[in-house]
Amino acid sequence: MSVSVVVPAPTSNGELAAWVNEIATLTQPDRIEWCDGSEEEWTRLTNLLVDHGTLTRLAARPNSFYAKSDPSDVARVEDRTFICSEREEDAGPTNNWIAPAEMRQTFGELFKGCMRGRTMYVVPFCMGPLGGEISQLGVEITDSAYVAVSMRIMTRMGDRALRLIEKIGAARKAGESEGRANGGRSKRDHEHADFVKAVHSVGAPLQPGQVDMPWPCNSTKYISHFPETREIWSYGSGYGGNALLGKKCYALRIASVMARDEGWMAEHMLILKLTPPSGETRYIAAAFPSACGKTNLAMLQPTIPGWKVETIGDDIAWMRFGDDGRLHAINPEAGFFGVAPGTGEVTNANAIKTLWGNSIFTNVALTDDGDVWWEGLTEEPPAHLTDWKGRSWTPDSDEPAAHPNARFTTPASQCPTIAPEWQDPKGVPISAILFGGRRATAVPLVTESLSWEHGVFLGANVASEKTAAAEGKVGELRYDPFAMLPFCGYNMGDYFGHWLDIGRRAGAELPRIYYVNWFRKNADGRFIWPGFGENSRVLKWIVDRLNGEARAVPTPIGLLPADLDTEGLDLPEEDLRTLLTVDRDVWREEAALIPPHFDTFGTHLPKELWDEYQALLDRLG
Ligand code: GTP
Ligand code: MN
Ligand code: MN
Repeated sequence: MSVSVVVPAPTSNGELAAWVNEIATLTQPDRIEWCDGSEEEWTRLTNLLVDHGTLTRLAARPNSFYAKSDPSDVARVEDRTFICSEREEDAGPTNNWIAPAEMRQTFGELFKGCMRGRTMYVVPFCMGPLGGEISQLGVEITDSAYVAVSMRIMTRMGDRALRLIEKIGAARKAGESEGRANGGRSKRDHEHADFVKAVHSVGAPLQPGQVDMPWPCNSTKYISHFPETREIWSYGSGYGGNALLGKKCYALRIASVMARDEGWMAEHMLILKLTPPSGETRYIAAAFPSACGKTNLAMLQPTIPGWKVETIGDDIAWMRFGDDGRLHAINPEAGFFGVAPGTGEVTNANAIKTLWGNSIFTNVALTDDGDVWWEGLTEEPPAHLTDWKGRSWTPDSDEPAAHPNARFTTPASQCPTIAPEWQDPKGVPISAILFGGRRATAVPLVTESLSWEHGVFLGANVASEKTAAAEGKVGELRYDPFAMLPFCGYNMGDYFGHWLDIGRRAGAELPRIYYVNWFRKNADGRFIWPGFGENSRVLKWIVDRLNGEARAVPTPIGLLPADLDTEGLDLPEEDLRTLLTVDRDVWREEAALIPPHFDTFGTHLPKELWDEYQALLDRLG
C-alpha cells in the first residue's frame, strides 16, 4: 500500500517537499495536511477533536478545551529520552545515548506504516519572533491533531513560518550558485537543513474500520535527538513535553547544541522586566528546575510600592550578544505550557487571568457546569467534579481531582502583565541572571556571585530537594546544573565550558549572577520566607546592587544583603537572620558534596570550576 492521497507539496522549498514525501512514504498516512495556522484551521481541527472525543469544549470559557490523556501518558519520559550523537562522549554522562545508526534502524521499523488510517499534519513553525535574528525555524510532522492545535498556541505556526523557510532556502541556493556564503550564515550552517526536522507519531496506526481511542499512544516510547543533523524523532507519546517538539526538544536540547556551535545560549530560563519607581527598566533571566517557580516569578506581583514586573517569557530564553556587548534574550515560545495545580488567585493571579479563553487544559478536573478545576485553583473544591481519569469525584475522594502534572496551554499574548516588547526580534538586554532551586537548608535567600566564573560555579551546583530536611543538616540533593539536567543536548561538562567561554568574549558586558532560594524551612518544616510577591524585595536588592546603591556582606559563599528592604514585612528577626547568614559548618558539609558531583564529568569538567571549588574551601577555612 502507498500513500492514498498524494497532494503536491505547497512549498517552493525542495528539501522540505522531499522530506515530507520521504516521511509519508515511510509512515503511510491516509492524508497529508499542511497547517497554515489560520483561525479557520483551528476551528476545524478543534471541532474534529471534539467529535473524536479527544477534546471536550468548555461551556464556561470561550474557545477553550479540556483533554484527558491516557493515564500512562502524563509527563516527560526522561528514561526514554535519547541524545543520538555520533560519539557517546558527546552525549555526556547525564544523557541516555543510542548510536545514531542503531536509532535510525529502530525508527525505520517503528515508523513503518505507523500513521496508517491517520492524517499526517505538516506543521511549519518559528521559535521566536518571525524573522528575528535570534529566532529559528522548524517543521514538525505529526499524526496528532491535538499536537497541531497545541503548536498553534505555543509557537508562531503556519504559513508565515513556511514563507520564512522558503526565503532562507532561496537565499541559500542563490548563495550556492554564486559560490559564496550568504545572509551572514556560517559555513557550518550550510551542512544543515534550512529548518530543524521534527517527526512525531503517537505510534497507533488504525486498521480499516478500527475505532480510534480518544488519546492514542503506545507503551513503547522514544524521544530522540540527533544533534549533528539537527533532527528530532518522537514516538509513542502525545504528552506536551514529548510531542510538542518545538519546546524542550528543539528550544533546549537541539538549540543548546546550535548555541554551542554558534556562540549563543539556549537556557531553561524565565525572562522578566522590572521597573523601579525611578523608571530605569532592567531585564532579568532566571533558571530554576521544573516546578521551582519560574512561571510564578515571571508573573510576579510586587508587594513593594512603586515597583512593576512585566513578563517576557516563563520557561525558555535564547540569548545572543548584541553590538553593545550585552546578552540580548528572546522568549522563543508564543504560549505558556504551565503546571496547573497550585496555580490560583493567591499564588499567581496573572496566570489565572491569562487563562480566560483560547486555552487547552490537559489532565485537570472538569466541573459540572463545564469549567476546569485543579488543586489550588480555589481554597475549597467544588462539591462534585469529574476527575482527570473521567471518574466522579467529591472532596471525600482519596485521590487528587487533577493529575499533579496537569497543564494549561495558553497564548502568552493574553497575559495581563505581558511586556510590550515581548516580541521584539532583537530581544531584551539582560542585567542579571538568577539561579535557584528548592533548598530547605543551608542556602541563603540570595547570594551575589564574586565573578562570572564564580557564577558559573554556582550554576553548575544548582540542586533541588523534594523532602524537608531538618535545619542545619544537608538534605538529600539532586544536582540539576543550570536547571538543564534533562534538557542539555550535549556533554554537560562541555556545556559548563561554553558558559565560561561566553564570559571570556572580548568586550562583553556580562550580566551579574545571583543564587536565590525561596524554599528555606524551619524546624517545623514550614517555609520561612513568604515568597511569591514578597520575592520583589530580593529583586529590588539585586537592582540596587546593579546600580551601586545597596550594600553587601562578604561571606565564604558570596555576597549577601546588608540592607534588604523588609519594611512592612511580618517576619521575625530570627528568621531573617537564618535566611541571610552562612553557617560555615553546614557549608563544609555542603562543599563535600561537590567533588563526587564534579567527578561525574571526568575530563570534561573545566579546570576553572575545580579552581572555584578550591577557592570556596579556602574561604571556608
Ligand atoms: P516548569 O514549567 O515545569 O519548568 O516549572 P516552573 O519553574 O515554571 O514551576 P512553577 O512556577 O510551575 O512552580 C510552581 C511551584 O512552586 C508551585 O508549587 C508554587 O506554589 C511554588 N512556588 C513558586 N514560587 C514560590 C515561592 O516564592 N515560595 C514558595 N514557597 N513556593 C513557590
Ligand atoms: Mn513553568
Ligand atoms: Mn520547564
